[in-house]
Amino acid sequence: MVEFGTNFLKLLTLAKINLEKYEGREQSLAKHLVLENYLEGLAVKTLMSRYTEFTFVDAFSGPWNTQDDSFSDTSPAISLRVLKKISNIVSAKKHREPKVTCIFCERDLSKIEKIYEIIDSAKLPKNFTVKVIHGEFLKSIDEIITLVPKSAFKMCFIDPTGWTGLDMKSIKPLISLPNSEVLINFMYEFVNRFINHPNEAIREGIAGLSGSMFSNLDEDQRESKIIDHYRNALSEICDYKFTPAAQILEPKVNRTLFYLVFGTNHSKGLELFRASQHRMATEYSWIRQRALDRAIEEKTKQETLFGEDEQRLIGRATYDSWVAEQKLYARAYIIQESTKPWTSSFSRVAESIMNRFALKETHVKDLVVEIYEEGFVDNTWSHGRRKKPKDDDIISYTPK
Ligand SMILES: C[S@@+](CC[C@H](N)C(=O)[O-])C[C@H]1O[C@@H](n2cnc3c(N)ncnc32)[C@H](O)[C@@H]1O
Repeated sequence: MVEFGTNFLKLLTLAKINLEKYEGREQSLAKHLVLENYLEGLAVKTLMSRYTEFTFVDAFSGPWNTQDDSFSDTSPAISLRVLKKISNIVSAKKHREPKVTCIFCERDLSKIEKIYEIIDSAKLPKNFTVKVIHGEFLKSIDEIITLVPKSAFKMCFIDPTGWTGLDMKSIKPLISLPNSEVLINFMYEFVNRFINHPNEAIREGIAGLSGSMFSNLDEDQRESKIIDHYRNALSEICDYKFTPAAQILEPKVNRTLFYLVFGTNHSKGLELFRASQHRMATEYSWIRQRALDRAIEEKTKQETLFGEDEQRLIGRATYDSWVAEQKLYARAYIIQESTKPWTSSFSRVAESIMNRFALKETHVKDLVVEIYEEGFVDNTWSHGRRKKPKDDDIISYTPK
């Protein structure tokens, strides 16, 4: 795969965020930021290398809760906008048009009309094929598979309103197609609430999400046990090597609403997902502060002391302490798990840490340097006059 430096990816800036459209549902903005960032990076990386076709499947398309007449705050509009932009870039750079296929599935007829409106106003070039399926996602899987070009790189976005229609064993034939990645909105709040429901059908529905009962859920680390169970199921049932997850908190309260769980078999996909998560987290951090300030204003009928500059400062500090916390968890994981000496390339260490913890590759480099300073690993990178390790450097760990 041809690699692009971060400079090239930086040129692909996000469309300006229109916060007013996400007022009161800032969590959807967080979801859309990850989707937009990831899809953009993935489409560039695949279409500028050996792939000439790209397919995006939006399994639960909506539009849903939109606050914009042009639907710019919905996944169908975002995906079409991003893919059109990337298709133009690729056509100009490679002197050939990629083949782009988008498939939107939605069960509600009134929304199907809106999807057609979105497609019309996207003014797509001829190299785009768009299919709209009116139906239940699970019942449409066979049809969707027939529409997906075999040679395309595929990304599937699964964003349901509840937990029904998401049985992992049933969605496997689609999301395990060769050269696929998947982004799933795992409705943690629902799962946590209904996991021990007295109604057996509800309990079984929840268990179907991961193909088996969520078990051993005492209160201690309940949340991490639930999400790890789901991530492991995605890895085992759908054969994904990496299944990182991004936690999305409620806008005004420190409580988890959902996780964006991602499946990929490529370390570059893992890296790109974490980079997308962090781009989202830097924005969402101050946007949550803004939402909180607005709620206080409404309650007290008084203007808060903070303007956008202060909100951004507070957001940045919150983001920085979250990163520091993730690094502490990762450090504790390395040190507690490593009771015997081990040797591994830096890239393997980075994969293992990024798969479990919300850290970017650069954070893992810093972490390795920190545990070297504490005497846990040998320094194999400064011979090359580097301050931090890179992919092929061997990391040798010795427990104390
Ligand atoms: C959370 S909304 C999707 C939001 C959209 N992905 C976005 O980000 O803008 C979920 C959508 O799935 C639709 N839906 C619910 N159950 C479905 C099913 N079993 N099959 C297909 N669509 C379904 C709902 O009508 C709703 O429009």
